[in-house]
Amino acid sequence: MLAKGRPVMPVKPMRDVQSWQYTGNLYHPTQKPISSLQPLIESFTQPNDIVLDPFAGSGFTCVASALSGRHYIGIKLLAEYHARRVA
Ligand SMILES: C[S@@+](CC[C@H](N)C(=O)[O-])C[C@H]1O[C@@H](n2cnc3c(N)ncnc32)[C@H](O)[C@@H]1O
Repeated sequence: MLAKGRPVMPVKPMRDVQSWQYTGNLYHPTQKPISSLQPLIESFTQPNDIVLDPFAGSGFTCVASALSGRHYIGIKLLAEYHARRVA
């Protein structure tokens, strides 16, 4: 994870090990659960910040960002993935 400028450090730092709810990877082989992404995004960004995932894969970083009130930019190499719609 990288940040531009001098971002505000998390008020409540996260633990190094987080629980993980396996999604079944229905959309992408390396899909992450939104329940794991949102605490990370909300710890290290502020509302309306921009989250960039230059290797967006499933796009779930973008989904979690939107659900957390952040803007997002996702870059995806393979058209078959960025054309998919999350149900
Ligand atoms: C580890 S996965 C991404 C995981 C993603 N953050 C997620 O949670 O689903 C890496 C992704 O980067 C994509 N990728 C590889 N090279 C790329 C490139 N040059 N530009 C954009 N995406 C690329 C691969 O297709 C793969 O889907």
